[in-house]
Amino acid sequence: MEKVLEARGLLKDYVSRGVFKSTTVRALDNISFSLENNKIYTILGESGSGKSTLAMVIAGLTDYQGEAKLFDREIKEWAGQDRLGFCRAVQIVFQDPLASMDPRYKVSEFFNEALSLHYPKATKKEKLSLIEKTLSDVRLSLDVLPKRPHQLSGGQRQRVSIARALILRPRLLILDEITSALDRETQDRVLGIVKEIFNRRKGLILMITHDLDVAEKVSDWIILMRGGRIVEISPKGKFFEEPVSEYGRELLSLRLQ
Ligand SMILES: Nc1ncnc2c1ncn2[C@@H]1O[C@H](COP(=O)(O)OP(=O)(O)O)[C@@H](O)[C@H]1O
Ligand SMILES: [Mg+2]
Repeated sequence: MEKVLEARGLLKDYVSRGVFKSTTVRALDNISFSLENNKIYTILGESGSGKSTLAMVIAGLTDYQGEAKLFDREIKEWAGQDRLGFCRAVQIVFQDPLASMDPRYKVSEFFNEALSLHYPKATKKEKLSLIEKTLSDVRLSLDVLPKRPHQLSGGQRQRVSIARALILRPRLLILDEITSALDRETQDRVLGIVKEIFNRRKGLILMITHDLDVAEKVSDWIILMRGGRIVEISPKGKFFEEPVSEYGRELLSLRLQ
């Protein structure tokens, strides 16, 4: 089995400097795991447990101590030396698509910006056909291209964000709480699309959520976090039937109430 993503003794501290003293929050505390290709892993944990920090480390967006390797390359070095190549390998989608979309841009411009940067030699026709194919993967038509972010529904916006990540054909796709701001029905639709994409393209998907229902719908494996640590890594079926950790049992019993 090909190991895609490995962490060993991964640490991340946030230091806030005050006037008299600094305070340190250890957001990731000795994280170790080894993740295989062609699986959907869900990082599950309450707010503040360190999920987004882990996502930022893996997406090469923040510094860290310890080891974090993607395809055997240390992430901070790869992201530092070859930003474009690293971005093609790893893409991340966040909860709030509006925060990462310039409101003045049309959807077409989001795609063209990424394509011009990564595939400067592609012709207009090639770009359009790639955009069309990627939009159809998230069940959108070319009709969205002339629209601006606020002219789309929440679900459409999130699907545009997923498409913008997918168009670079990343080998690792990180989805950080992408359905948390959506109503149940839209959430199910987006999760269904994630599964379809995975079945077609494979690769490694890291879903991040605080929601047990979301975790149960899409994952192959559950990585349970608490207070910056991993407390359990189990196959999904096992986790939802008989979790190994005390904390996992506690979460599931609260859910049944
Ligand atoms: N930029 C930051 N500066 C200082 N502390 C932070 C920062 N980002 C996150 N934290 C702290 O790190 C911990 C983990 O946060 P986060 O990774 O956002 O968790 P989650 O995504 O699971 O809600 C929390 O205690 C949070 O307050
Ligand atoms: Mg978060």
